[in-house]
Amino acid sequence: MSRTKIGFFDSGIGGISVLSHARRRLPGADYLYYADTDHVPYGTKSRGEIIRYSDEAVGFLAEQGADAVVVACNTATSMAIGYLREKYPFPIVGMEPAVKPAAAAHQGEKILVCATPVTIAGEKLHTLIEHNYASDDLPDLIGLPGLVTFAEQEIFDRGDVCKYLASVIDKERNYSAVVLGCTHFGYFSDSFRELLGDIDLIDGTKGTVNRLISVLESEHIPLPADEEGCMTFYQTGRPVTDPKTLAFFDRLLARAEKFQN
Ligand code: DGL
Repeated sequence: MSRTKIGFFDSGIGGISVLSHARRRLPGADYLYYADTDHVPYGTKSRGEIIRYSDEAVGFLAEQGADAVVVACNTATSMAIGYLREKYPFPIVGMEPAVKPAAAAHQGEKILVCATPVTIAGEKLHTLIEHNYASDDLPDLIGLPGLVTFAEQEIFDRGDVCKYLASVIDKERNYSAVVLGCTHFGYFSDSFRELLGDIDLIDGTKGTVNRLISVLESEHIPLPADEEGCMTFYQTGRPVTDPKTLAFFDRLLARAEKFQN
């Protein structure tokens, strides 16, 4: 029996943070990771472009034999998940900013939701907020496209990152929690804490992997857990073989793991 293949897709390297968690929970699967390097960032693109690129990515993963796909990108989920689910026959798990768990854990407290400009402006997020917050107690919303650029360039230096964050986040708002509504943002947990103190940082990684597991179970997709599966990376459909890029992805897996612990 061939091993279960799970496809992951993000505009770039953000979804590697979700892949890292999935691999720990489901070591027996084979993973295909598609970073749409030619088109990153999605967070400032039109809905039509995001649907087109997401379709190309998921179509590619389908050709490689994915049994299920995780759209490890809040922006692509916000714009394209309905289209993708209608088009493809296998399960597709999306990601959305973890507004619901943040509301449950921090009732009546000041929350900041950060994501890409497209996610922040999107109807999906506003509907999610309406369902989870009273109209006189809404969270603050902010787009942080600069963090996507930093992550893609592997700039994690707290000095540079905190300077950027301080220029866009008002720390006098005394937030109790920050929702990291973009998969690129989890790599900067240290900088968020340096600027805002020991706040609760909430992202959708664990919830997404829980959802993936329950979808695989309900679809009777087998998960042999005995021996570790393999990981294959693609950049906009081209297999990644160059050792420098693979080493970069390894560093991201390690960084994601460090912050998830
Ligand atoms: N990582 C993506 C997200 O979760 C999008 C980043 C971008 O391409 O702008 O929204």
